[in-house]
Amino acid sequence: MEINLDQLQKSAEEELNGAKDAADLERFRVAYLGRKEGKLNAILKSLKDLPESERKVVGPRANALRQYFEQKIEERVRELEPAGLSEGEKRRIDVTAPAKRLPRGHLHPITQLMQKATAIFSSMGFDVASGPEVETEYYNFDALNVPKDHPARDMQDTFWLDVSGLLMRTQTSPVQIRYMEKHKPSFRMIAPGKVFRNEATDATHEAQFYQLEGLMIGKDVSLANLKAILEVFYRNLLDDQKLKIRFRPSYFPFVEPGVETDLTCFKCRGKGCAVCKRTGWIEVMGAGMVHPKVLENAGIDAREWSGFAFGGGLDRIAMIKYEIDDIRLLYNGDLRFLKQF
Ligand code: PHE
Repeated sequence: MEINLDQLQKSAEEELNGAKDAADLERFRVAYLGRKEGKLNAILKSLKDLPESERKVVGPRANALRQYFEQKIEERVRELEPAGLSEGEKRRIDVTAPAKRLPRGHLHPITQLMQKATAIFSSMGFDVASGPEVETEYYNFDALNVPKDHPARDMQDTFWLDVSGLLMRTQTSPVQIRYMEKHKPSFRMIAPGKVFRNEATDATHEAQFYQLEGLMIGKDVSLANLKAILEVFYRNLLDDQKLKIRFRPSYFPFVEPGVETDLTCFKCRGKGCAVCKRTGWIEVMGAGMVHPKVLENAGIDAREWSGFAFGGGLDRIAMIKYEIDDIRLLYNGDLRFLKQF
């Protein structure tokens, strides 16, 4: 057998340099180094049949050539597919296939409600304020004219902190005082936020919930203004332009007169049903004209300025809006529940 390694090297080198893609290189590898039909491989296999003198010459060269081409193939592979996918891999990827839908979260229903409430009040010129959740007894009670012996100060209702005079705010009303201390009338503001009550939880009570506070101080701000503003607010929040509100006399130490605010029942629209306990109305927030003592406590001249304040639970509104029958569902993080909003 005539073995012309020079010629083989020459033709192999030409083919190798002419390879245009990974498939060409694979064909080249099979043609020369392949186990079955590889030309160079055939030579290597036939070495044992050669006379020793010839084997000594051809053997080392053929082996060197094999190493040389193996290395060359690798080089050319890298050259043709810089850091990319091989042709085979490319063929397996269908770039036209629709993308997999990734699970996407969304805002908590209370957050959604808070944002909507904020947007409605902002559109009516209300500033959005906030205050600390850990409050002093002064802002949460004293400045708001809550007497020392008022039941709201009872240990049962308030989470007191170990540091004396500090507590978890039981209402967003302290933000009224903080705001009045910093701003000169006239102004209008809302303050949504978390509040805390030391109570046993059940379907309608949580130890932590959300309130929306409001305050408007000016020259001739009246309860009639409050009624109009709250009506606009609830009609837009609950998407019911026929919704009505009413005031009932009530008592809060920081307002005089004080009222409870009711909405026409969302379920029966006022006819009377189980949700509204046959009254046709649902209680949603406390309100009233800011007590002169509260204005004075915050440094505002009560002979010159007056206005209204309101405050109520956002959770209750969420429960009304989405017909949720247990407040605790809003806080236990169950995705089966949350995904519905
Ligand atoms: N802070 C009162 C409460 O938590 C609500 C309220 C706010 C009442 C403002 C009157 C004026 O029940």
